[in-house]
Amino acid sequence: MANLTNKKDPVDQLVDTVTFLLDVFHEFLAGIWMGTLPWLQCSIWGIAVGILCIFDFDFLLWSKIGVAKWYPDALVDRSIYISILMCSGFIMWAIYRAAVKMGLMRRLTSTFQSISLKNSLGQLPQFIKDEPLDAQTRRLRLTKRCLPMERFQAAKSALESSLQIFIDDMKDNRKSGTIDIIYAKEPMPENILLEEMQIKPGSLIVGETRSGPLTTDFNATPHLLVAGQTGGGKSTCIRQWITTLYVSNPSYEFTLIDLKGGLEFQTFENLPRLKVNGSVSLAVDQLCTFEEEIERRMKILKQAEVKDLDGLHQKIAKAIKTQGESPKVQTFYRHIIVVDEAAELFLSGGDVSSKEAQKARVVISKIARQGRAVGLNLIIGTQRPDSNALDSQVKANLIGKICFQMSDQYSSQVVLGNARARDLPAVAGRAIWQNGMQQIEIQVPYLSIERAEQILKPHRIISEVGGNKNDESREDL
Ligand SMILES: Nc1ncnc2c1ncn2[C@@H]1O[C@H](COP(=O)(O)OP(=O)(O)OP(=O)(O)O)[C@@H](O)[C@H]1O
Ligand SMILES: [Mg+2]
Repeated sequence: MANLTNKKDPVDQLVDTVTFLLDVFHEFLAGIWMGTLPWLQCSIWGIAVGILCIFDFDFLLWSKIGVAKWYPDALVDRSIYISILMCSGFIMWAIYRAAVKMGLMRRLTSTFQSISLKNSLGQLPQFIKDEPLDAQTRRLRLTKRCLPMERFQAAKSALESSLQIFIDDMKDNRKSGTIDIIYAKEPMPENILLEEMQIKPGSLIVGETRSGPLTTDFNATPHLLVAGQTGGGKSTCIRQWITTLYVSNPSYEFTLIDLKGGLEFQTFENLPRLKVNGSVSLAVDQLCTFEEEIERRMKILKQAEVKDLDGLHQKIAKAIKTQGESPKVQTFYRHIIVVDEAAELFLSGGDVSSKEAQKARVVISKIARQGRAVGLNLIIGTQRPDSNALDSQVKANLIGKICFQMSDQYSSQVVLGNARARDLPAVAGRAIWQNGMQQIEIQVPYLSIERAEQILKPHRIISEVGGNKNDESREDL
């Protein structure tokens, strides 16, 4: 634990130096672990320095500053020297981060002193650590020094202006007598409407980060998990995805399974290319049809000698372009299978027999493993993503994860591998997005049921007068 007061004593200076070196090492490891280390820039720097050494530019520099006699000539010494130089980008980055941290400690001390945030013994809150939570958000941990939380809350704007940060949240860790300040350099957007987002049509809109909109696609994240405690925004997020994907991708097909009695997906009834299912036994039957569908699609890919759905569509498009007509191969389209409140399907009891639950698990697991290539994509919404409610193998294949606030550390740990979802501020639509190893805080855009209905209305009208928009638009492929 570092002390915030200035020390002039040589022993204290030695302690400071060792602490600083440990901080440099800690920042380096934290950078790797949190994915904040700028690998590309540091590697380019290392390669450039290595090339300069090969052409002896470094020796010229040593000579210019008059220290050529210390230049490492022996092969082993030179190899060690060049290796250190090539890693210097990473070292400089870690030193920079540790120096920023030291500056933060100094500014914290002077802010606490200026606003008299001290206890009856005159002690200031003490710095424990400052670490990245993701590429944009950090967590500062301080001892509370028995000060009440209200004193810290009152100091929020003074801290924000003196440290030039935006504080998202302050958390009281009662057991350890510490406080966590979650902060970032940029403010987190709140209450974003879908219409306000500047995004390319057709993409899967994940949300707004501190630095702008974030999107993905089914190639990068073939299957998605939407988790979070009740009221977090799961169904709203799923509604936004289905609506935007439906209107901007006229070839996509959808199967929606809503196990809250069909209420959430009422908005999507009577649309071509889209089936809504609200009963468990129908849902299981529907899911079982995808077992055969996977086999059928695989056969078509094999016949066409392509690896996946995109390959098939590219082959057809190329043939049309060169030969002027569609080749004699069968085709198929991306099909998105959405299961909201998935735990209802996988946990036997209530409406679900254990046989049905088992069947549903087998099919979902097969789609999760084999669906990517054949254009079958899963979106699973659940309050409970533990192993009873969702197979670990399925979960491992749900590459893209949105996790809204969770009530406890365990639930957050199950989805994200850490407590970040528990620590999210209680803002509807606030979530952590995880793609592979990377995590980032996002604000999911809001799309109301009424607005979704307005957007989908023209598509419904076409179906009611009998036109088949689905088939017409597919000719564009
Ligand atoms: N992205 C958002 N932005 C602003 N408000 C939101 C957002 N998402 C949800 N909300 C608000 O939170 C409420 C609950 O959202 P939603 O029904 O999507 O939660 P849920 O996670 O599906 O809950 P449950 O598990 O009970 O079904 C919404 O009615 C809306 O008022
Ligand atoms: Mg819901």
